[in-house]
Parts: sequence; structure tokens; C-alpha cells
Amino acid sequence: MRLGKAPSSKHKTTKFLFVCVSILGAFLIVDLLWASSSSSSSSSAYRSIASNWPRQGSQTFVVPKGTGKQDKKDGVHERVLSATFADLPGPQLKWEKMAPAPVPRLDGAAIQIKDLLYVFAGYGTINDVHSHVDIYNFMDNTWGGRFDMPKEMAHSHLGMVTDGRYIYVVTGQYGPQCRGPTAHTFVLDTETKQWRDMPPLPVPRYAPATQLWRGRLHVMGGSKENRHTPALEHWSIAVKDGKALEKEWQTEIPIPRGGPHRACVVVNDRLYVIGGQEGDFMAKPGSPIFKCSRRNEVVYDDVYMLDDDMKWKVLPPMPKPDSHIEFAWVIVNNSIVIVGGTTDKHPVTKKMTLVGEILKFQLDTQKWSVVGKLPYRVKTTLVGFWNGMLYFTSGQRDKGPYDPTPRKVIGEMWRTKLSL
Ligand SMILES: *[C@@H]1O[C@H](CO)[C@@H](O)[C@H](O)[C@H]1NC(C)=O
Repeated sequence: MRLGKAPSSKHKTTKFLFVCVSILGAFLIVDLLWASSSSSSSSSAYRSIASNWPRQGSQTFVVPKGTGKQDKKDGVHERVLSATFADLPGPQLKWEKMAPAPVPRLDGAAIQIKDLLYVFAGYGTINDVHSHVDIYNFMDNTWGGRFDMPKEMAHSHLGMVTDGRYIYVVTGQYGPQCRGPTAHTFVLDTETKQWRDMPPLPVPRYAPATQLWRGRLHVMGGSKENRHTPALEHWSIAVKDGKALEKEWQTEIPIPRGGPHRACVVVNDRLYVIGGQEGDFMAKPGSPIFKCSRRNEVVYDDVYMLDDDMKWKVLPPMPKPDSHIEFAWVIVNNSIVIVGGTTDKHPVTKKMTLVGEILKFQLDTQKWSVVGKLPYRVKTTLVGFWNGMLYFTSGQRDKGPYDPTPRKVIGEMWRTKLSL
């Protein structure tokens, strides 16, 4: 919907909608005033962010069909979908802002082991990538323990998984902007902080789905070296206590749909691959800095599962397509909980649309639901769960309650009490 143009007085529907938008706009101004005054005057770290979100009902703000598209010269509004069209209704949660990470991170990786969240790599800016690990301690809610990654390790879009002590780090993008992936693979012993090499992947992959399952490290999907072309290949290698038990990766059943940025979860001896996309930004041909240029992306709501049959089964889809969620999930009480992400681009403006909900997949009933709203829409969050509290840090947040397109790369850490 276009704001700032007078509605046609002949058009009752349009006029009514204009009034609605004006009221919503007034609410937004009040919200902004409230938010700025509360952040400057509030001494408590706690604040409900409920009023940062557009009111219920504004989320699917579509001008009714029936009169067709009018010529702009008539001063009649085009029938356009609200920018926030993809938001889903869900409970408001009370969020607490914790200590921010030492650096902002986009497309980083995270692994929780007991009371520690290890946060790896990521872009600081598009021209600057991190090559170190920061650690958040859930016991005293502090950051610390920074240590370096190996020089040859990728800086973003990694595959990563732990057995509870060793962290396996597979392939990923090497360098800033839209450089391609490396096949290098490593293992970190979190007790000694020692890194070791692992057999490299047969070919480099960008943001592949990665998990440990039945004694084997599985890597599947992702994009090929150009960052954009979806890859279907699936490999595994036997591992134990941070060592590969085989010299080479073995070929496994290909995944029905390739592409990067999916959640890959093993729970109750089953392997799930959730959401993700086909396509991604690519390096501009000939650019010496591999400058990122946008390409078509399609985001999916797919859920695939492997069990004893070793054949991919298709499970009920997510409430909406969701990508950039590879480290944005936790398992709580027999449910997979997913925080934020990106969904389909806006059909008219073609802008990227971020996700502002926490989604839940209950494993016994195979039902999806919306657990609640985040403080803002955000992608590539790094998520942990400790003592009844859901934590998220890092990623890229939206421009504001009414603009779900990406803006600031953040290091903020937030938590909320989770009750499923
Ligand atoms: C998980 O289930 C237990 C037992 O029913 C319950 O006490 C606990 O609050 C649940 N945790 C969450 C986060 O919902």
C-alpha cells in the first residue's frame, strides 16, 4: 500500500483503508516514542517488546480485490501487499537483553555444549570476516574465552556439529564478500582447545546441512562452488572421539532438494533437514573483491527425514518457508524450536523478508506451531537453551516493525523463558 498519497474520495474501500493505515501510523509513532523513552529511562533490563510489533490484523493488510488495478494517474491506490505480509500471529514474549557478543556476526556458527555457547566465525561487515571463537557462559551470563580458528578454516557458511566434546567443522565460505567455499574440514577438542585436520570433503560446499548420526558425520545439500547452484550430494564418514575412522567420505542417498541455509537436526535417532533455499548471492563476474550480487532465491518450507529405511520421507511443512536457520534451533521437550530466519521475498518489491517468530515442530505429533514473537525479525541467529530460557545472539535484524527487510548486523544477546 502506498502511503502519502491522498485517497480517492470516490472509493469508499480505499478511504476506509487509508483511515486504518493512518491509525496504525499513529500507533507506530506512539510506539517509537514509547520505545525511545523507555530505553532511556528504564533501569530494568526487562522490557516487554509487545508494542514494537504491528497490531494483530495489520499483518495481512491487502487491499480487497474486485475493482482491478487502476491507473496511477487517477490517484487511486494500486492493490499492493503490505511489507509485513509474511508475519504470523503468535504470543508476545517477555525478552531480557543480556550482554552483547564481543563482535557482531552474520552467517556465523554456534554450538552449545552444556553451559557454554561456542560462537564461531561470521561476517563483521561484508568486507571483514572473523577468524575466532567467542564463548558465552550461561551460568554467569558473560562472554569470554576468545581463541583463534585455524588460518585455513572457512569464515562463514560452515557445517558444524558436536558429539558433546569434539566439534566437527566442515567446509564453508573462505573470505569476505561472495567468495567461494573451501573443502577443508577440522575438528576442535573443546577440552584442550586443540584443532586437528579431518579428511577434506570430496568437493567444497557452501552452507551444507551437517549432522552426526549413528557414528557418522553426514554432510548434504548446500550450494556448489559458485554459491548459487543447489547441490544434492550427500556424504558421510565414520568418526569417533574427534578422529575420522575412514580415509575417505562415502556417498550416501542424495537429498531430494539441494541448497544452503537449512536446519539439520538429529533427535530420537532420526535425521531431519528443515527449510532452506535454492540460490544465493554470487560474486559479480570479474570482480577482484568477489563483490556480492543478488541472484534469484527460492525459500522452502520443506521437512525431510531419514530413519531406518534410509529413504527420504517428506513430513508436514513449516508454517511458512524459512531459511538461514542452520544454527537457529534447539531441541526442547521433544520439539525442535527454530528462531527467526528469512522467508519468501516480497512478491511486489522483491525485497528479502526476515522472520520474527519462534516456530516449533513437535516430534510425536509432527505438528508445527508459532511459540511466540522475537524482539524483532532476524536471520542467522545463533541459539542456545539453558535452564528453561531460550537465548539468541547475532545475525541481521530488520529495519523496524513495519519494514521486514534486513539492515543491521548485530551482536546482541537476548533471552526469554520458554514454555512449550
Ligand atoms: C518440559 O517438560 C517438563 C515436564 O513436563 C516441564 O516441567 C518443563 O517446564 C517443560 N519445559 C519447557 C521449556 O516447556
